[in-house]
Amino acid sequence: MVGVHRAALAPSLHRLRDVADSWTDPNVSKWWQREFTDGVDPEYTEQILPLVSAALSGAERVLDVGTGEGQVARYISSGDRTVVGVDPFSAQISEAVRRGGGIAYLQAGADALPVADESFDAAVACLVFEHIDNLDASIAEIARVLRPGGRFVFLLNHPLLQTPGSGWIDDQMIDPPEQYWRVGEYLQEKETVEEVQKGVNIRFVHRPLSRYVNALAAVGLTLERMDEPAPPAGFLAKAPQYEAAATIPRLLVLRCRLEMPQPR
Ligand SMILES: C[S@@+](CC[C@H](N)C(=O)[O-])C[C@H]1O[C@@H](n2cnc3c(N)ncnc32)[C@H](O)[C@@H]1O
Repeated sequence: MVGVHRAALAPSLHRLRDVADSWTDPNVSKWWQREFTDGVDPEYTEQILPLVSAALSGAERVLDVGTGEGQVARYISSGDRTVVGVDPFSAQISEAVRRGGGIAYLQAGADALPVADESFDAAVACLVFEHIDNLDASIAEIARVLRPGGRFVFLLNHPLLQTPGSGWIDDQMIDPPEQYWRVGEYLQEKETVEEVQKGVNIRFVHRPLSRYVNALAAVGLTLERMDEPAPPAGFLAKAPQYEAAATIPRLLVLRCRLEMPQPR
């Protein structure tokens, strides 16, 4: 018997249904806030938050694009740093405001950031662009609001290894049985909807990695460093049946810098 077992590591995947913009659904925002914020998710507490903080070290004015309920913004906020969070959906922004932390929040999408040109030393977008249709305009906006030499810290579900349709295969037909990671359809840019919990449907836009890197390059955001960290211990402990899970990254982190103007 050959089985695909994603359930322990990721929710089941469905083809696109009619979910226009899943984050407008209060069920989706509540699910995110309940399951992934406020210290309940080991990928955030053990990995994402410390990693973002280290990548932003020294930046005084930071924009958090797709801030959600503000966990990244709160974590990186400190006395000598100004943090602004933007998110288009009121269910997220209102919770961010309620959770506080001295951060300014603005309701806006990534493709129309309501802030001045060159007004930030750094921007971060954490697990946001998988939900954005307007990739090129959104990346161009980030470049616009960064000062020359400013940084962009870009975190994505790994576009290759977490492609929709990826997952563990337990192949019991061969001797000895084998367990391996299947990669879903990678090259097509396409939308899917995952039912992550009963009644909670999230729309994702998959793109190959080259699409992201080339969109960044087109606006002068040069890749300085790329990381594919192993899932943290707290996450691996959730699925001990997949011994090899530590070899398959879930996260991709691109650290980019906005090119300085060339002297004439
Ligand atoms: C998976 S959550 C991540 C939230 C936050 N960055 C974090 O790491 O906790 C994705 C966020 O992207 C936001 N989002 C969706 N479409 C967006 C868009 N067009 N522009 C900016 N943010 C968007 C959603 O409202 C949601 O808050």
